[in-house]
Amino acid sequence: MIKKPEIRSYPSLPELSFAAAGFIAELAEAKIKERNIFTLVLSGGSTPRQLYKELARQAISKKIDWQKTHIFWGDERCVPSDNPDSNFSLAFQILISRVDLPPSNIHRIPAATGSAKAVAAEYEKTLREFFQPAAESDSSISFPSFDLVLLGMGVDGHTASLFPGDEALEERTSWVVAVEGTSASPPVPRVTLTLPVINEAKCVLFLVSGSNKLKVLQEILNNPHTATYPAAHVQPSGNLLWFIDEGLA
Ligand code: 6PG
Repeated sequence: MIKKPEIRSYPSLPELSFAAAGFIAELAEAKIKERNIFTLVLSGGSTPRQLYKELARQAISKKIDWQKTHIFWGDERCVPSDNPDSNFSLAFQILISRVDLPPSNIHRIPAATGSAKAVAAEYEKTLREFFQPAAESDSSISFPSFDLVLLGMGVDGHTASLFPGDEALEERTSWVVAVEGTSASPPVPRVTLTLPVINEAKCVLFLVSGSNKLKVLQEILNNPHTATYPAAHVQPSGNLLWFIDEGLA
C-alpha cells in the first residue's frame, strides 16, 4: 500500500524554502526531544540553496540543537571539495560554516579520496559504524533509518544520483553505490544512497521548483503506482512530503 504523500504548494521558491526551514526546525526539535539526536540527509543541486540559507539564519538556526544534529549527504559528485559542483561545498559555504555544528557531526561523502566505487564503500562503512556501532554488531540492521532525507528532482525525474535506467535503481542490498553519471549534469561519477536506504527514512521531503519539472511531477503525483521515474520509487515507510512552487501545482 503506497502511503499518500503530503503536498504543500508555495507562491515562490523563497517562500517554499522558508517553510521548509521551519518544518525542519520543528522536526529536529521533536526528534531531539524524543531520542536526543536528529539525523538529516542533505540533497544537492541548486534548489536547496535558499533552504540552507534559511536554516543558517538566526531566527531558524537558534531553534535547532546543532550539537545533537548529524548531517549526511544523499549523493555527491566525485569532484574536489573546492569544485562548485560539490554538494558538500554548497552546503558547507551556505549552512555548515555558519552554524555551531561539531565537526564530528558532519558525515560527508569523501568524494575526492578515490574511485567512485571506493568512495561508495567508504561512505557505507561510515554509515554502518554510525548506525550500528560495533558494540551492537550482533543486532545487524538491514538499512539505516534517517530522521529526514531531503531530496530534489531533476527534469528527467532523477533524485539523489539515481538516474532513469541506471542499475543503481535496482540495488536492494548496498546502502551506497557508485554511479557513472554520464547522463547527469555535470556528467561526472557520483555516489548515492540507494532506494532501500531512502525508503527506510522516517521522513522524506522533496523540494521541487521550476515549471520545467511540471510534467514529470504531475505524472509521479497522479500515477504513483505506475510512474517509472526514479523519484516515483521513493515510497518511504515514514512520511513523504513534497514542497513545490505554485508553478507546479
Ligand atoms: C545532485 C542532486 C540532484 C538534484 C536534482 C535537482 O547531486 O545533482 O542531488 O538529485 O537534487 O538534480 O537539481 P536542481 O535542484 O538543481 O534542479
